[in-house]
Amino acid sequence: MKVIAIVNQKGGCAKTTTVVNLAAAIAEKGKRVLVIDLDPQGNASQWLGSTGAGANAYDLLMQECDVNSVLTESNVVNVGLIASTRLLAKVERAPVDDIEIETRLKNRLSALSPQKWDFVLIDTPPTLGVLTLNAMNAANFLLIPVTTHVMTLTGVAQLVQLFEEVRDQFNPELSILGLLPSRVDLRTRHAQEILSALNHSFGKLVFKSHIRESVRLAEAPSFQENILLYNPKSTAAKEYRELATEFLKRTQ
Ligand SMILES: Nc1ncnc2c1ncn2[C@@H]1O[C@H](COP(=O)(O)OP(=O)(O)O)[C@@H](O)[C@H]1O
Ligand SMILES: [Mg+2]
Repeated sequence: MKVIAIVNQKGGCAKTTTVVNLAAAIAEKGKRVLVIDLDPQGNASQWLGSTGAGANAYDLLMQECDVNSVLTESNVVNVGLIASTRLLAKVERAPVDDIEIETRLKNRLSALSPQKWDFVLIDTPPTLGVLTLNAMNAANFLLIPVTTHVMTLTGVAQLVQLFEEVRDQFNPELSILGLLPSRVDLRTRHAQEILSALNHSFGKLVFKSHIRESVRLAEAPSFQENILLYNPKSTAAKEYRELATEFLKRTQ
């Protein structure tokens, strides 16, 4: 079982889109994927068909619930879900004397059956707070989606610095799985410039797979369908399948 946190403190850089569609693409290849939604906004949970009722990630972190009791099915075969709730925002404000708050998720996940799940994908909020730290501490790998719309390199540098701190202080096994260029519009020179700057700074850490800007992809959440279901022959569906193949190679 490999745990991957999808992180980037910038909002709107396709974290949730990556989690939902990559989970579906890996599941299509016969792997079993558990999605944990740590963003209080709960976009991944809604997209994966959660009604908002029932046990959730807050119960897991703050109410001593067993991980297997907060798990639900999603609307995708082979994909399980630990749903978000707005209450998760309270975790960010947990009192400083709350013992081991940053490693709570890691400790709780130790009760997961590794035979049952091949991958755990964790969606995170657009902040570098307690929730994101929990995801980074629980993870084997970080996957960092980056958009090529706006200057993203400063944010990525900050994130890499935090990664090094977490690895050195809490989680020596942690590594960066890769940076995933998302919402790429190759028609613009700006996007091409950012892509080559990313390749120049991060080399092999940049995924070969890219996800291009796609109207279909932006529409899909309104129908609570991932792109493989919503438009299986689209370029975006093809790109997520390619990403899944590269993901499986990189996590071996
Ligand atoms: N490849 C893409 N093409 C078009 N729109 C996209 C693409 N990826 C993400 N989006 C849209 O961009 C917005 C932000 O994406 P989201 O995955 O919610 O980012 P985050 O979780 O990082 O905040 C959403 O409206 C989403 O539909
Ligand atoms: Mg999100």
